[in-house]
Amino acid sequence: MLKISNIETFYGNIQALRGVNVKVENGEIVALIGSNGAGKSTLLMTVSGVNKASAGEIVFNDKNIESLLPHDIVNLGISQVPEGRRIFSRLTVEDNLRLGASSNDKGIHYSKDIKDIYDLFPILKDRLGQRGGTLSGGEQQMLAIGRALMARPKMLLLDEPSLGIAPKLVNQIFVAIKNINKEKKVTIFLVEQNAKKALELADRGYVLVNGSVTLEGSGQELLKNEDIQAAYLEGGGKK
Ligand SMILES: Nc1ncnc2c1ncn2[C@@H]1O[C@H](COP(=O)(O)OP(=O)(O)O)[C@@H](O)[C@H]1O
Ligand SMILES: [Mg+2]
Repeated sequence: MLKISNIETFYGNIQALRGVNVKVENGEIVALIGSNGAGKSTLLMTVSGVNKASAGEIVFNDKNIESLLPHDIVNLGISQVPEGRRIFSRLTVEDNLRLGASSNDKGIHYSKDIKDIYDLFPILKDRLGQRGGTLSGGEQQMLAIGRALMARPKMLLLDEPSLGIAPKLVNQIFVAIKNINKEKKVTIFLVEQNAKKALELADRGYVLVNGSVTLEGSGQELLKNEDIQAAYLEGGGKK
């Protein structure tokens, strides 16, 4: 479904990605784990067209997307939930969701889709008239995921959905991600520093170190791998 081949991305002279190869098959949950600064966000933003690769190829459902604009990539069915959530803090919960829909179907499916999102995250329904900026971090993450779903994506790119969020809400969010994958049939490409949670959820995973993939395998294989345990899993499973 998504094939990333030999991608190189720079910020000026700084090379953030050094020939990355990653595949995500239709229906999978794939996790990309790595420390702060490894290049995880850069990879997601290169897929979504926000950053431009200077070399390599990205193919989504048999179509090259590495030179497309971000909104064209959204319209092909890839929605990104950026790191730090980036919801509209002055707009209400409902208006944030409505803006997610507008790029794709001009609100035709609005009522049904918004109901589905309230079923997925009931707390958002209680808060529908509240400004986004007044939600807790975890609630904002739910809103950001809901907004991305309003575009009816085939694939969701999630950038550190657990970052800075209370453990109880992290669990709810990971349950919802599994739900979105299994019930809504949305393919998930998940980036996380929280390696344990991500690998427990994922069918397959990749490890990114300094802009290069150093390991790949099933989620279970990577959880058992000694190098990964030493680097990312010891000390409570964070980082
Ligand atoms: N806008 C930017 N300008 C310059 N360098 C950047 C920018 N964004 C990220 N970088 C650098 O690129 C590398 C990868 O960053 P990033 O993709 O954000 O890593 P991660 O998401 O894994 O923490 C880091 O060395 C970071 O400092
Ligand atoms: Mg990041």
